[in-house]
Amino acid sequence: MKKGIIILGSSNSYGSTQKIASLVSQKTGFPIIDLKTKHIGEFDYTFKNRGDDFLPLLKQIVENYQIIVFATPVYWYSMSGIMKTFFDRISDCLMTEKETGRKLRGMEMAVISCGCDAKLKDGFYMPFQETAHYLGMTYKADMYCVEKNGSPTINETELNNFLTAVKNE
Ligand SMILES: Cc1cc2nc3c(=O)[nH]c(=O)nc-3n(C[C@H](O)[C@H](O)[C@H](O)COP(=O)(O)O)c2cc1C
Repeated sequence: MKKGIIILGSSNSYGSTQKIASLVSQKTGFPIIDLKTKHIGEFDYTFKNRGDDFLPLLKQIVENYQIIVFATPVYWYSMSGIMKTFFDRISDCLMTEKETGRKLRGMEMAVISCGCDAKLKDGFYMPFQETAHYLGMTYKADMYCVEKNGSPTINETELNNFLTAVKNE
């Protein structure tokens, strides 16, 4: 089985997205990194945040894992702000930290999302898919869970399909 990591980007470390991430972690053995526990500043053209937690985290990811599973709630039809900041900071790797950025090439990406609408709006996954494409990563799978009464509803078939896609070589 391949080695993967789950990047949790929710404003609630114990919310619905965390619950799904935790289930996927149990079923895959992939550890979870909660972005809320990290100090990752916004992208800055003068790289004023270069000494924060972003680069050590990305280095840890590219040196140890084959697939990154991003887990985000839907906030205003998009990924969460905390997740978007992480994506913006990948720009550091295209400018000053190129060696680390290049190691994303050949890696894989998958996405878990959670929202209260019955259906995810078209285009939600586009930034993930296009980022994967731009970075030379393979976009493997995604899964959307609807939150009801404060908990995510998990469709077993969708979960199993997702797990198969992220685990298999
Ligand atoms: C700021 C904010 C914006 C939201 N926007 C949406 C939305 O556009 N579409 C949707 O389906 N749910 C939306 N929701 C509901 C959340 O996606 C839903 O409650 C989700 O399960 C929260 O996950 P969390 O517990 O990890 O934060 C929003 C919630 C918040 C707090």
